[in-house]
Amino acid sequence: MAFVLPQLLFLILLLLSFSAISQTNDGKISVGSTLTAGAESAFWLSHSNDFAFGFRKLDDNHYLLAIWYYKIPQKTIVWYANGDNPGPRQSRVELTNNSLILRQPQGDQELWRAEFQTATTIAYGLMNDTGNFMLVDTSSRTNWESFKHPTDTLLPTQEMEIGGSLFSRQRETNFSRGRYEFLLREDGSAVLNPKNVLSNITYKPYYYYISETRGLGNGTNSGYKLIFDQSGYLYILLRNGKRSFITTLQLALSPARNYVRATLGFDGVFSISYFPKNFSAANGTWSVIQAEPDNICLKVGPRPCGDNSICTLKEGQRPSCKCPKGYSLLDPADEYSSCKPDFMQGCDQDGDLYYLNELPNTNWPNSDYDVLRQYNATACQRSCLEDCRCAAVVLSGSNCWKKHLPLLHGRENTGYSDSAFVKLRSIPQSPIPQVPRAKKHKSSFVVVSVLLGSSVFVNFILVGAMCLGFFLYYQKKLKAFGADKTCVDSNLRYFTYKELMEATEGFKEELGRGSCGIVYKGKTAAQPIAVKILDRVLTDKEKEFRAEVQVIGQTHHKNLVRLVGYCDEGQYRLLVYEFLSNGSLAGFLFGDLKPSWSQRSQIALGVARGLFYLHEECSTRIIHCYIKPQNILLDENYNARISDFGLAKLLLNQTQTKTGIRGTKGYVAPDWFRPAPVSVKVDVYSFGVLLLEIICCRRNVYMEHGVGEKGVLTDWAYDCYCASRLDALIQNEMEAMNDMNRVERFVMVAIWCVQEDPSVRPRMKNVMLMLEGLVQVSVPPSPYPLSSIS
Ligand SMILES: *[C@@H]1O[C@H](CO)[C@@H](O)[C@H](O)[C@H]1NC(C)=O
Ligand SMILES: *[C@@H]1O[C@H](CO)[C@@H](O)[C@H](O)[C@H]1NC(C)=O
Ligand SMILES: *[C@@H]1O[C@H](CO)[C@@H](O)[C@H](O)[C@H]1NC(C)=O
Ligand SMILES: *[C@@H]1O[C@H](CO)[C@@H](O)[C@H](O)[C@H]1NC(C)=O
Ligand SMILES: *[C@@H]1O[C@H](CO)[C@@H](O)[C@H](O)[C@H]1NC(C)=O
Ligand SMILES: *[C@@H]1O[C@H](CO)[C@@H](O)[C@H](O)[C@H]1NC(C)=O
Ligand SMILES: *[C@@H]1O[C@H](CO)[C@@H](O)[C@H](O)[C@H]1NC(C)=O
Ligand SMILES: *[C@@H]1O[C@H](CO)[C@@H](O)[C@H](O)[C@H]1NC(C)=O
Repeated sequence: MAFVLPQLLFLILLLLSFSAISQTNDGKISVGSTLTAGAESAFWLSHSNDFAFGFRKLDDNHYLLAIWYYKIPQKTIVWYANGDNPGPRQSRVELTNNSLILRQPQGDQELWRAEFQTATTIAYGLMNDTGNFMLVDTSSRTNWESFKHPTDTLLPTQEMEIGGSLFSRQRETNFSRGRYEFLLREDGSAVLNPKNVLSNITYKPYYYYISETRGLGNGTNSGYKLIFDQSGYLYILLRNGKRSFITTLQLALSPARNYVRATLGFDGVFSISYFPKNFSAANGTWSVIQAEPDNICLKVGPRPCGDNSICTLKEGQRPSCKCPKGYSLLDPADEYSSCKPDFMQGCDQDGDLYYLNELPNTNWPNSDYDVLRQYNATACQRSCLEDCRCAAVVLSGSNCWKKHLPLLHGRENTGYSDSAFVKLRSIPQSPIPQVPRAKKHKSSFVVVSVLLGSSVFVNFILVGAMCLGFFLYYQKKLKAFGADKTCVDSNLRYFTYKELMEATEGFKEELGRGSCGIVYKGKTAAQPIAVKILDRVLTDKEKEFRAEVQVIGQTHHKNLVRLVGYCDEGQYRLLVYEFLSNGSLAGFLFGDLKPSWSQRSQIALGVARGLFYLHEECSTRIIHCYIKPQNILLDENYNARISDFGLAKLLLNQTQTKTGIRGTKGYVAPDWFRPAPVSVKVDVYSFGVLLLEIICCRRNVYMEHGVGEKGVLTDWAYDCYCASRLDALIQNEMEAMNDMNRVERFVMVAIWCVQEDPSVRPRMKNVMLMLEGLVQVSVPPSPYPLSSIS
């Protein structure tokens, strides 16, 4: 008997819910009615049962207040209230005599409410058979209707006034506000454009669609209302009574026989589609009759697919994204997320480790860093295999376009004659072994770089660089010597290896891993120190090493880290620096707490002064080559102090060779990869990147889910600058917002610094003067004159 009772209860509940439906059969909902998320039949139906208003379950504890087609199996949603803010189970929506309110189950906190003038008294709610949910007052006026607050869909008989807009959702099943907008503008034109979700910035130059009524202003022939009529025609009504059609369809769709909707898809495609009401006759899908734009993969501007992905069109002109071979999705559940390489990026001369995979008709038009003219396929491919930065090449005619990671805005289109070749690694990589410190062989480079990497990209380029360096210099064993151990310079103290061993308690506490070795904390009687074990000193003449150390030791400036001494004993070469208590700028900028704008701008000035000194003021000119936040240290007063200067020369003879590419991805100037001598301008480039990172408190390159068009800071910063939306760069940070002149000056200087052409970049002296506001900054040009945007 025990189980009969629950079953009875269930039956009763079922009957009750049916009677609830039958009561609301005229589509009217009386004041005082409520719906509870998660409850049986938590919806109100229209008279014809075509539409339902109520809760839709997103997942176990997220419910959406929505309107949907009740009869069709897909239950396609046409309107939603709380997309950004789904409510938990037991959320309640209540129709009161002055509002329609969605509340949390606990605390009665409001998640959403229908906004309107509250002067009148609501008589009833109405789920109209048109799909419009209306609140009607006691004098039979409609006070609020869902048609006046569209989300991503228009239904027949729905109209949109000037200023009205549709916005996309994030994903098919994620109803947060997405990246696209379809808007009826002031000038009576309808436009479809991508928008920055976080800051609401409209990307001005990128319109995916503009109606023919653009630019007509207030004239009598200008548009003022967007109408989606009974027959599925979408048009703009002009002030002179004429109609400007957006739909090109020839035949009217009978509303009696079809459901029709116009929807801005989460992927940015605006489409008009229908679903036959007699779907026993149909194949039960929405059929698209018109979509805009024609090919979203080819549009300039933010794209639907993630980094390193390739966009193709599927039916309904909607984009589909796939990763190239050798790459896989960052979020396997999300086709539109970025792709990451499954291997370590790199290069080699013989072409054994890497090979190129051909992808016909494919291009990534916005990732070029170089173009080689008059090249054939063989030469083009070889140039990529040998170049550590190169992730892919596209041969277009006789032009060989070299592409770096991230590969942006990839698309496949049979209209191209281009062929892309994507670099892949041929042999499977062995697992990375654990290697004892301070040993010099290949795998230790790998370990160092893997651990050092703050981003995946850092690793790729570092491993590439280090492997190359290893191949070239492996044979050059460091000569043991022990004769003369006196100081080269009275400023510098000579340490024995044993002394340093003791000072660091056996290299116990690691402070960091840098471009050329590991740094340990230590302590002498006089002061705390930082000891760097040089990993791969390439000079095998002791005299040269000492001469370089002397140069470093003689270079003093308040924005440079001071060298205290060194050790040069057999295979061991160590540098001893003063210890700085506040760690590196990387930790400071990208840590949990955001440093203040005034601190950040002082740091930027400090780095500029230090670099200026290295380039132009000290007796031996020094090109740093490794400027990045990991190499900027902070003293107890948070003054910026540049470290690792002079090491580039120690490790490689920088005036002669560039075979060992030594910088870090994201900070390395493109001229590193060109057959011309390296100049101080490579540091200016890296400084520009660093400056943007300081302004925005984020890394230049990162590849996380959902980053989208903000993936590369230098590109995004330039876009924001062009769109006059610097507030987005500083994330509306109050202190910086109040200092907008300086923010703008800094951003402009940074854009000047990251110019692809080194001769256009300013010298550090000018950079410093411009940052300080002593010299006027002119409007910077686009940093990428070379790119092949078609
Ligand atoms: C509206 O509802 C409130 C609370 O239920 C009630 O106090 C008020 O009298 C109602 N107003 C009208 C005009 O019915
Ligand atoms: C539904 O909306 C239409 C158009 O606004 C209107 O003419 C009609 O009366 C509404 N239906 C009901 C049952 O009120
Ligand atoms: C929907 O997307 C937004 C933005 O990417 C994200 O914050 C949110 O967690 C997503 N919601 C769900 C339910 O996945
Ligand atoms: C963006 O605009 C929409 C509508 O205008 C608004 O609801 C939303 O809060 C805005 N978001 C931000 C971050 O300003
Ligand atoms: C359109 O008319 C409004 C007011 O009637 C006016 O403020 C506005 O400047 C006009 N715009 C143009 C483009 O003529
Ligand atoms: C629905 O389609 C089927 C198959 O074409 C047809 O036999 C049936 O009569 C149609 N029903 C209505 C109501 O039109
Ligand atoms: C069935 O679907 C295909 C596309 O999948 C479409 O071309 C065709 O017109 C549909 N048929 C009907 C009757 O809707
Ligand atoms: C491609 O160019 C290289 C030199 O630029 C030449 O040696 C080679 O023969 C060319 N290959 C073909 C297939 O034309």
